[in-house]
Amino acid sequence: MHKPIEVAKDIYYVGVNDRTKENFEGHWPLPLGVSYNSYIIEDEKTVLVDAVDICYSSVFSRRIRSVLGDKPIDYLVINHMEPDHTGAVEWLVSQYPGIKIVGNKRTIEMLNGFYGIADNVVLVEDGGELSIGKNRLQFFLTPMVHWPETMMTYIPEKKVIFSGDAFGAFGTLDGGVLDTQILPERYRDEMIRYYSNIVGKFGSPVQTALKKLSGLEINAICSTHGPVWTVPENIADVVNLYDRLSRYDADSGLVIAYGSMYGNTEELAEIIASEAARNGVKRIVMHNVSKSSQSDILRDVFKYKGLIIGSPTYNSKLYPGVESLVSALDNRFLKNRFFGYFGSFSWSDTTARHLGAFAEGMQFEVITEPVIMKQGMLSDVEEKAREMGRVMAHKLTSGAGVVPTIYPTQAINNKK
Ligand SMILES: Cc1cc2nc3c(=O)[nH]c(=O)nc-3n(C[C@H](O)[C@H](O)[C@H](O)COP(=O)(O)O)c2cc1C
Ligand SMILES: [Fe+2]
Ligand SMILES: [Fe+2]
Repeated sequence: MHKPIEVAKDIYYVGVNDRTKENFEGHWPLPLGVSYNSYIIEDEKTVLVDAVDICYSSVFSRRIRSVLGDKPIDYLVINHMEPDHTGAVEWLVSQYPGIKIVGNKRTIEMLNGFYGIADNVVLVEDGGELSIGKNRLQFFLTPMVHWPETMMTYIPEKKVIFSGDAFGAFGTLDGGVLDTQILPERYRDEMIRYYSNIVGKFGSPVQTALKKLSGLEINAICSTHGPVWTVPENIADVVNLYDRLSRYDADSGLVIAYGSMYGNTEELAEIIASEAARNGVKRIVMHNVSKSSQSDILRDVFKYKGLIIGSPTYNSKLYPGVESLVSALDNRFLKNRFFGYFGSFSWSDTTARHLGAFAEGMQFEVITEPVIMKQGMLSDVEEKAREMGRVMAHKLTSGAGVVPTIYPTQAINNKK
């Protein structure tokens, strides 16, 4: 039988790994899989915090029984209703008919809407408490991190927070669950990808949530995806990362994302990148939008302060992959980027107009005139592309775009 992992005294990890699904939400690739985390708190009352995807009900059942045996579950706390965490709830209710489901007003509406469950529910308010014996559960509503009903549950006696999707990462838990059992850096890019893909639109609600939690002492962050964070430095690091990402703050580095059918636009991209590198930009990531997944491009755009986008004119519009990318960035209210744009056309350019309107709408700092090439490469266009690379390098290396990796102030105190 599975041997349960104790993440803190009397708190056990009973989540599952998904190494089957190709795309999260049907859209975001999962090369390293994903975990759906769930936890049991043993006290006078037995509490399950968050559930899992419906596909994993039977594995989940065995994990629960490895901790509880035949003991009943008194409460299920639902921090987030998205079906990756509630798919197994109907099954849970059938197995544990006495279980009481704890949620806020919006949770309870959704519980009825999704699953027709309206009985045995316990309504909690923002800041409300539920005693479970020696410990209390405190509830903090954190709407739009990542849905309207999302909340976090905190145990003041243990200083453990169940944070829902916040601080979550893609990537299965391959043996180790606690940060002390793994190499945390393995999850860093997957945390940024998760944030940028799933939570990226909600920077302002994340900031509100961080402020709301800023008075709490935290010994462990138990999110619904990825590792459990318990080491003070790691807690500080993930909180700082969330703080920075939700303020659209980024490291010095450059993403060049472009579409190209026959290589003309790509040639401009190469010239710009080469000149940026020649002028000192070491972190440059180039993405051909037709090859790279949008998921990875978003991750890198959230990581780096410099962004240059290129597109051929395509039936008087942007190239499809570029159009989709700018729409995704617009949807996420991306801010605070040094921005350049370029393109190529053969008879009537519209790239400059479309990307110019995008830059204006996003209130980016546009670093140079757009570089637009008609048909083949002419020396003046080539020189303009070099200039764009140089100016971007200057912006990124002159101090304006350089930010420290760890911020001195922390949104959440982490004290043992
Ligand atoms: C399907 C298709 C549609 C195009 N539509 C336009 C257009 O509306 N206006 C224009 O000036 N050029 C248009 N072009 C020409 C391309 O923009 C031009 O050849 C450009 O240099 C291609 O860039 P690439 O080599 O990076 O693919 C079109 C080309 C293709 C294949
Ligand atoms: Fe979610
Ligand atoms: Fe989730």
